Amino acid sequence: MGQFNTLFKQSIDHPEEFWGKAAEDIDWIKKWDRVLDTSNPPCYRWFSGAELNTCYNAVDRHVENGRGEQTAIIYDSPVTNSIRKISYKELQNEVALFAGALKSLGVNKGDTVIIYMPMIPEAAVAMLACARLGAIHSVVFGGFAASELSIRIDHARPKILVTASGAVEGKKTISYKPLVDRAIEQSEHTPEQCIVFQRDVIKADMQAGRDLDWKELVAASEPADCVAVAATDPLYILYTSGTTGMPKGVIRDNGGHAVAIHWSMKNIYDINPGDVFWSASDVGWVVGHSYIIYGPLLKGATTIIYEGKPIGTPDAGAFWRVISEHKVKVLFTAPTAFRAIKKMDPTGSLLQQYDMSSFEALYLAGERLDPDTYHWASELLKVPVIDHWWQTETGWAIVANCRGIEEMEIKAGSPTLPAPGYDVRIVNDGGKELPPGEEGNIVIKLPLPPGTLAALWRNEERFKSSYMKTFPGFYETSDGGYIDKDGYVFVMGRMDDVINIAGHRLSTGAMEEVIATHPDVAECAVIGTDDQLKGQLPLGLFVLKEGVERTPEDIQKDLVKMVREEIGPIACLRETSVVERLPKTRSGKILRGTMRSIANGKEYRMPSTIDDPTSLDEITSTLEVMGYPKK
Ligand code: COA
Ligand code: AMP
Repeated sequence: MGQFNTLFKQSIDHPEEFWGKAAEDIDWIKKWDRVLDTSNPPCYRWFSGAELNTCYNAVDRHVENGRGEQTAIIYDSPVTNSIRKISYKELQNEVALFAGALKSLGVNKGDTVIIYMPMIPEAAVAMLACARLGAIHSVVFGGFAASELSIRIDHARPKILVTASGAVEGKKTISYKPLVDRAIEQSEHTPEQCIVFQRDVIKADMQAGRDLDWKELVAASEPADCVAVAATDPLYILYTSGTTGMPKGVIRDNGGHAVAIHWSMKNIYDINPGDVFWSASDVGWVVGHSYIIYGPLLKGATTIIYEGKPIGTPDAGAFWRVISEHKVKVLFTAPTAFRAIKKMDPTGSLLQQYDMSSFEALYLAGERLDPDTYHWASELLKVPVIDHWWQTETGWAIVANCRGIEEMEIKAGSPTLPAPGYDVRIVNDGGKELPPGEEGNIVIKLPLPPGTLAALWRNEERFKSSYMKTFPGFYETSDGGYIDKDGYVFVMGRMDDVINIAGHRLSTGAMEEVIATHPDVAECAVIGTDDQLKGQLPLGLFVLKEGVERTPEDIQKDLVKMVREEIGPIACLRETSVVERLPKTRSGKILRGTMRSIANGKEYRMPSTIDDPTSLDEITSTLEVMGYPKK
């Protein structure tokens, strides 16, 4: 048996031994009573009884162990034309001071803090400062509109909101402060204060009494020490799209997270202390949490905060420039970034200008890695191109090619084998396990490994009903796929109403909720359609109320504007169409899956429960007129 298979088997047969050993790489204030607490299934707890501080493990211990002068963070911002390097010692000072500032405002262990910031180092400082105090951060992605921020403010009830004056998005500047003001106005809960980092490129108007200037506050504050927290205490809440407009607040604990994320850096990404690891994502997504901030820093590596795009900042050679300039060993991004580069520079000619000798592997996740993009990237870069599959809920890869343990053969279209700790199975809707090659629901046998979601914030019922109820004893991933005869997992797509737009997870249900509020719309459905660049794009179909006088074109414009304003520009809802009626089952359920198949040119079976089969013919012709399925 190869090294990988041996370790994998150990992790499934003896999880306590396996993760207990991995936990030796973390500095604990108090050791655990039990590695895995199984007393309350389906809620499992890792390292119960233990105490630690995540910020200490990510920052202070490296300074104490002689890495103080090493660069912890490289901030590379082509959009502001600046590069800044922050050593571990400098990071420790900045984090301790900002933690002191939060403490002076009354932030204590267990309090929540919302962070709504662009890709600047202060976002990392704010997250780590919360971890230092045992406060729970909830980072909200900057591409979400005011009302999405407001939903999260009301649910997380933050004591403090930390923001910046704005973001530079490609060639545009976006002021964050008016969005924050509007979000707070719309919320029932009001944060006691807002801390605003004023950027040179954008100035924010401050509200006297409530808003505090980051720099002034820090100048007047004393450094704060790391606070001991229980391994099972929450480190952060990260809201992610479910099937409705109310996102799910995934809770990550401190202990299991530190152990698993630290372990993954070497074993999955082959990263050692001192290596340069670049995750080109955003701090607002799980990839940003695990692999821009916590993973590389827990490992003592150097991380890059890149405020730019794969194209247009200034060109499709931007990624190669960053890799060569900062001697990046591993890059992690979403396939859509590579599709964007390929579209602008199909032969990859810009690569020739750069010295890529430091570069050892490309990791992709966030959406399915289509074989075309896989082949293009691996032929161009001549390094392993590793697809790996995971979710906000799991926090790290469920299925991956664990190169740090043993590099496995790559099969295009598959993220390879289940990672240690994950007992992955394919079952039919009745929960019966399916043989190799047969497609079904991908589930994971409980308990999940450390670092995966501990619960949903203030919603234990939804935690159980969303993930644990359909297949008792298993975690329901909501992805569909199959496992081949060699054990390779093929992930084919979501089984629910969640879609992936440019690697961003969004809910079609949330878009429907917005469209349904239009006074002229009787009912609607939003479906995910395949897109060559962004992977998927939403398409809205709506039925008008009787007697509406405005033209469908005007209403379509309203709907696009409403979704942009209510959810945010990243929802990318650009196409809608009026239809006479939506196809439904006899019990009135809209047949979204069947419409999705028609729009994407996939075969489908006429649902036996359909109310009127001719409704599908009407939808097929409407979609045909709109150019679906796309060639
Ligand atoms: N703050 C405010 N607005 C934001 C934003 C942010 N942090 N991030 C994106 N937006 C806006 C964009 O400006 C754009 O607005 P527009 O409609 O006015 O042009 C809109 O949201 C859509 O953004 P995006 O989907 O990123 O499209 P794009 O055309 O700007 O870029 C790609 C396309 C493929 C280059 C880009 O999506 C990309 O780099 N993806 C990489 C993948 C990635 O980071 N995935 C994260 C998970 S790993
Ligand atoms: P998020 O929670 O934003 O990370 O999105 C998780 C979802 O993205 C998963 O449930 C999948 O549908 C999809 N996804 C992520 N990575 C992959 C991958 N490597 N292959 C296929 N789908 C993926």
